Amino acid sequence: GGAAPKQSKKVDYVIVEDYGSSILGRLQSIFKKAIEEAFPGLDVPLLLAETPNPQFGDYQCNSAMPIAAKLKSTGVNKKPGDVGREIHAKLATNIEFIEKITVMPAGFINIFLKTDYLCRQISQLASNGITLPRVVKKRVLVDFSSPNIAKEMHVGHLRSTIIGDSICRLFESVGFDVLRVNHIGDWGTQFGMLIAHLYDRFPNFLNKLPDISDLQAFYKESKKRFDEDEVFKKRAYECVVKLQSHEEEIVKAWNTICDVSKRYNQIVYDHLDIKIKDVGESFYQEKMVDLVKWIKENKPGMLREEEGRQIMFPSGCSVPLTVVKSDGGFTYDTSDLAALKYRMIEEKCDWNIYVVDAGQNLHLETIYAAGRDFGWYDETTQRVEHVGFGLVLGEDGKKFKTRSGETVRLLDLLSEGVKRAADKLKEKGREAVMTEEELNSARDAVAFGCVKYADLSHTRTQDYVFSFDRMLDDRGNTAVYLLYAYARIRSIVRTSGIKNEDLAAYIAKNPSLPLNHPAELKLAKQLLKLADCVLLVLDSLMLHQMCDYVYRLATLFHDFYNECYVIEKKDGESVTVHFHRLALCEVTANVISTCFKILGIREVPKM
Ligand code: ARG
Repeated sequence: GGAAPKQSKKVDYVIVEDYGSSILGRLQSIFKKAIEEAFPGLDVPLLLAETPNPQFGDYQCNSAMPIAAKLKSTGVNKKPGDVGREIHAKLATNIEFIEKITVMPAGFINIFLKTDYLCRQISQLASNGITLPRVVKKRVLVDFSSPNIAKEMHVGHLRSTIIGDSICRLFESVGFDVLRVNHIGDWGTQFGMLIAHLYDRFPNFLNKLPDISDLQAFYKESKKRFDEDEVFKKRAYECVVKLQSHEEEIVKAWNTICDVSKRYNQIVYDHLDIKIKDVGESFYQEKMVDLVKWIKENKPGMLREEEGRQIMFPSGCSVPLTVVKSDGGFTYDTSDLAALKYRMIEEKCDWNIYVVDAGQNLHLETIYAAGRDFGWYDETTQRVEHVGFGLVLGEDGKKFKTRSGETVRLLDLLSEGVKRAADKLKEKGREAVMTEEELNSARDAVAFGCVKYADLSHTRTQDYVFSFDRMLDDRGNTAVYLLYAYARIRSIVRTSGIKNEDLAAYIAKNPSLPLNHPAELKLAKQLLKLADCVLLVLDSLMLHQMCDYVYRLATLFHDFYNECYVIEKKDGESVTVHFHRLALCEVTANVISTCFKILGIREVPKM
């Protein structure tokens, strides 16, 4: 394979206006400033992270060693311990959320949070609801799902759909202006044979939408005829020409095929609560013509002719883009070039995110390199990025297929999920305690939630094994576990007998909640990390980081609930209600709910 240049500059695309409750973010900016003051001009990345060992505080800055090493390379000898102390000396002494800062002999700087700060922040969250950090608003386009008409959506597109939707939700949650774009493959020469085949199989298609239940089979049939039957092949070519010159009836035939395919896809989208707008390859028909003209006029040296094709090698790329084929037609490359230009120049996007399988990385990076050569965007301020993902594998570790070796139909897959979720709820005896309506909505939340969460919770750049057994396990890092945890927390508050307004009155009177049990404090700290998590994922676009966050939150809640009474009962009568713990329950449920919204998981109040 060839190579395409990666964007070399690491730019801070996410500009934070207000960290809100993000402790890590605030610490990072405080330490960056202190280090810059103590050691100006040293370009050493900041190392600052949570410490798992409470002996060393809540966070630790480990920059002293690399700074000492860097100083040494410039001829200055300073022990890491001294570096640490000099950084410490530049830190303000009265930071509202810090109890104390200590410097270890080896230069590590330990940061201890002030308990009172935690107590105030949790009270804030309890009274004002969850707020996310404020970041500079961006206009963002997310290209996701993007199946091909007639070749049916497959599990790869399911990954793109799930990941892309969640990225959109994340962007929307911080107030970005989001364009959700379905770059469907709805144009190209394959439509010739499909249209010709449509005429033969469904001669009445103009009057009645044909009942093509299996578009995949329809595609295969027409391909077979195309390969074996010269007369059919010629007709197919004629259809392409007629389609390109917009002959009315042929356009109708094309539309019919697109409609059948889109209807099917829409059912998948409806199940998964996906909103997306079609701006497919056909949208760029005229734009591709204009593009070639534009290149020839404005960047003449860029196109080169080779065996009748017009190709280009963007800077640093070893595999060329084919802009015009020898028969004068366009390619996937041409439509992606036209799309990039349109998105950056007409749509004026700040960010343009492509959620596409990792196998297309070379293609996309080459397109981006061309876009930079053409001056369509400035990579120091605009983020154009391929968000790649690995393959979906079956439990045998091979490419995900049906038993007979066919590609799995997404609707079949989702129906199986629904059936398995129903069994799961039955197995847990939920029928006895829930109405049919509640049961159905729980079933769907579990089914679709588990498919989404299984995908999102795996590192997206890696392949992942699709297993219903694993995703429906209620003891692991799964949607089922989280949905149960969430419902349980909501029910604690619901069944406490305490009225919402009484809890609200308590919180209003206690701007600092009396948290002191270690399990309470641990939970509180995790709750305040939501803001860090959101900022992290905005930068990495790795949603498993949010899954890890919410899973850890649920387990810490579990620990808290085991160790601390929320309501103490005697003879079935509640004797003591610990209001501040009820408040912790509320905040935990609200944080989980916020994560569910970003992950695209439907919450159910009862399970
Ligand atoms: N339709 C393509 C496929 O199924 C994915 C399109 C991704 N988006 C893009 N702008 N190339 O492989």
